[in-house]
Amino acid sequence: MADPGTASFLTRANALLRKNLTYQKRNIWSNVRLIMIPFLLCVMLVALQIVFDTVVNNADDNRCGCQCIVTNQNGNCVNETCGIEFSSSDQAFFCPISSPPRWPPLLQVPRPECRAVNTTFLPDMGLPDETCRRTRTCPVTILFTGNNRSLGTSLFGNLLPSSVTVNISDPLQGLAYNVLGTEAESELTNYLDPGIASNLSIYNIQSGCISDAAFPFSFEEETLKFKKELRCAQGLNLWRNNSREVNDVIFKGYRKGNPEGKINEIAAAYDLLNTDRNNFNVHIWYNSTYRNGTNDRPSRT
Ligand SMILES: *[C@@H]1O[C@H](CO)[C@@H](O)[C@H](O)[C@H]1NC(C)=O
Ligand SMILES: *[C@@H]1O[C@H](CO)[C@@H](O)[C@H](O)[C@H]1NC(C)=O
Ligand SMILES: *[C@@H]1O[C@H](CO)[C@@H](O)[C@H](O)[C@H]1NC(C)=O
Ligand SMILES: *[C@@H]1O[C@H](CO)[C@@H](O)[C@H](O)[C@H]1NC(C)=O
Ligand SMILES: *[C@@H]1O[C@H](CO)[C@@H](O)[C@H](O)[C@H]1NC(C)=O
Ligand SMILES: *[C@@H]1O[C@H](CO)[C@@H](O)[C@H](O)[C@H]1NC(C)=O
Ligand SMILES: *[C@@H]1O[C@H](CO)[C@@H](O)[C@H](O)[C@H]1NC(C)=O
Ligand SMILES: *[C@@H]1O[C@H](CO)[C@@H](O)[C@H](O)[C@H]1NC(C)=O
Repeated sequence: MADPGTASFLTRANALLRKNLTYQKRNIWSNVRLIMIPFLLCVMLVALQIVFDTVVNNADDNRCGCQCIVTNQNGNCVNETCGIEFSSSDQAFFCPISSPPRWPPLLQVPRPECRAVNTTFLPDMGLPDETCRRTRTCPVTILFTGNNRSLGTSLFGNLLPSSVTVNISDPLQGLAYNVLGTEAESELTNYLDPGIASNLSIYNIQSGCISDAAFPFSFEEETLKFKKELRCAQGLNLWRNNSREVNDVIFKGYRKGNPEGKINEIAAAYDLLNTDRNNFNVHIWYNSTYRNGTNDRPSRT
């Protein structure tokens, strides 16, 4: 004889199942939707990946530069070789380099026709006459200030070398012993420094220039060959009595900072603050135009 308790449980379970099934049948579309949502999500993710791959990963600027070796009859590339030597400075970032070269540091210097000269709004500051702009020999002006003028003057007297040091057998590393500058705009990474990769001259900032002849040099890094020239640029250190005056001169050098709309750029400025024999405490001004609002960009000073 069946246990009435078990029978009633089975019957009840059966009834409940049927009731549920009928109920679910009535709501068939809500069930379909329930199953389809994860499926749709997967499809969306795949589609997103495809779009990302075509737009971002394969965009020319986001991969190592390549050169085609073999093309088929349709003109499609079947075998290509990729490397830093076929890349722009944006693409170079994506190329493998077995032993990355160490670039010498380059200061961002204003172009010769924008460098500070004597003007009516900055008279008698020790700046050169405007005629140097025509001969492209204007000095690179660096301002300095601090609490102790005699200390500052002696420190800045040693900032710039009076001659150039080049090691022909290792030009790139040898150059780092000089104070170098470039007009090239810095890139996001400087992995392939545009100051070196571009064909612009590198400035050697000296306390005085004997001749304005260019010193050509070339070097090879892995498969890259660079032909560059080193040009002398005179550096002019000018003392200002305090940081307010430094700010004033820098601001007036900006095109919108003076009534004449002139460009009169100062390369950099240093505030030595309370620097003395035991402390070296310095504030640096530099033109951050090329930083483009991001704080993690390497920027030249
Ligand atoms: C592409 O060319 C290189 C050099 O010529 C060769 O070593 C390589 O095997 C080629 N690859 C293919 C897939 O043909
Ligand atoms: C600078 O220019 C002003 C006029 O603009 C002139 O009076 C002054 O003599 C100039 N100074 C130098 C050092 O050339
Ligand atoms: C300024 O620095 C010099 C050393 O270069 C030191 O002899 C002198 O006492 C300092 N002056 C002041 C006011 O601290
Ligand atoms: C020039 O560079 C080579 C290679 O790095 C080095 O051996 C040599 O000592 C350098 N010469 C000078 C004068 O620094
Ligand atoms: C640098 O390259 C550009 C084109 O890439 C050319 O117009 C310019 O004359 C070159 N400048 C120098 C100094 O070689
Ligand atoms: C800077 O200070 C010195 C001495 O305190 C003064 O003779 C000179 O005129 C000042 N220079 C300027 C540009 O204010
Ligand atoms: C900073 O550099 C930019 C680009 O070279 C230039 O246009 C601007 O005038 C500079 N600003 C100052 C204050 O010199
Ligand atoms: C930075 O900004 C300048 C001026 O807005 C622009 O010309 C330049 O292309 C920008 N550089 C980068 C790397 O975004």
